[in-house]
Amino acid sequence: MKVTVVGAGNVGATCADVLIHRQIADEIVLLDIKEGVAEGKSLDMLQTATLLGFGTKITPSTNDYTKTANSDIVVITSGVPRKPGMTREELIGINAGIVKTVTENVIKHSPKAIIVMIANPMDTMTYLALKSSGLPKHQIIGMGGILDSARFKTYLSMALDSPQYDIEGVVIGGHGDTTMIPLTRFATYKGVPVAQFLNADQSKQVAADTMVGGATLTKLLGTSAWYAPGAAAALLVESIARDQKRQFPCCVFLEGEYGQKDICLGVPVIVGKNGWEKIIDYKLNAEEQEAFNKSADAVRSMNDVLATL
Ligand code: 2OP
Repeated sequence: MKVTVVGAGNVGATCADVLIHRQIADEIVLLDIKEGVAEGKSLDMLQTATLLGFGTKITPSTNDYTKTANSDIVVITSGVPRKPGMTREELIGINAGIVKTVTENVIKHSPKAIIVMIANPMDTMTYLALKSSGLPKHQIIGMGGILDSARFKTYLSMALDSPQYDIEGVVIGGHGDTTMIPLTRFATYKGVPVAQFLNADQSKQVAADTMVGGATLTKLLGTSAWYAPGAAAALLVESIARDQKRQFPCCVFLEGEYGQKDICLGVPVIVGKNGWEKIIDYKLNAEEQEAFNKSADAVRSMNDVLATL
């Protein structure tokens, strides 16, 4: 199993680090455009091998895609992160060009790789990668919903004052402050709907905190988050690499599912060796479906910007 992580910034390096510790791949290629960054971070990670006990090969690369050849999975984190006060959508102009070039380079050397997109605005970057590459839809997965769900579960656990692993919660829709949809109706505490433990105001607050979860961190850190985004991407890679068939909300190409088509948007999917393998229908109620349609409208108008770049 060979995994390439494009972009050795905070998110890419954290993702590679988690992959190494969980011994998910035989080889990880860490590629960055900036001389020395991938080399330095790879060497630093390699020096944790004897301390933490792992044997994954780590190959650094400064923009040399031949080293990524025949990767099974490629995680694309390239592009600039947000600064405080910025939305993910504001990054489209600069990141679209980067993502297009990176995707072309990746496919040239690993045409069969499953691509995990993290670059923002992620829903639009996933759509761009799919359209510009012409790859089969199952091969391209956007990572946003896993992270947003992790934030949702974290805020739920804080409100319920209970451990995070006792909570289930899913966020669908776009990976944007106003486009994501925390599905409170489906959230549970040990299988029991959270509505039995939280009042409407508390639930609303949890959903609101979740939606600005990334922005809250960007404000605190001065740049966008990395521990949870990196770990979320690694979990997705693990489900592909080990063919676990786990169910995650991921950004995938819709052709009528959830009432939408010609758009990449977050819905629950099964993830295995073939990429995203199947969409799971949660049977949304009218209010949830309306929120999903609104989210699709917002992402679609962002996708329309691609044509003007
Ligand atoms: C986030 O939400 C990086 O978009 C990512 O933190």
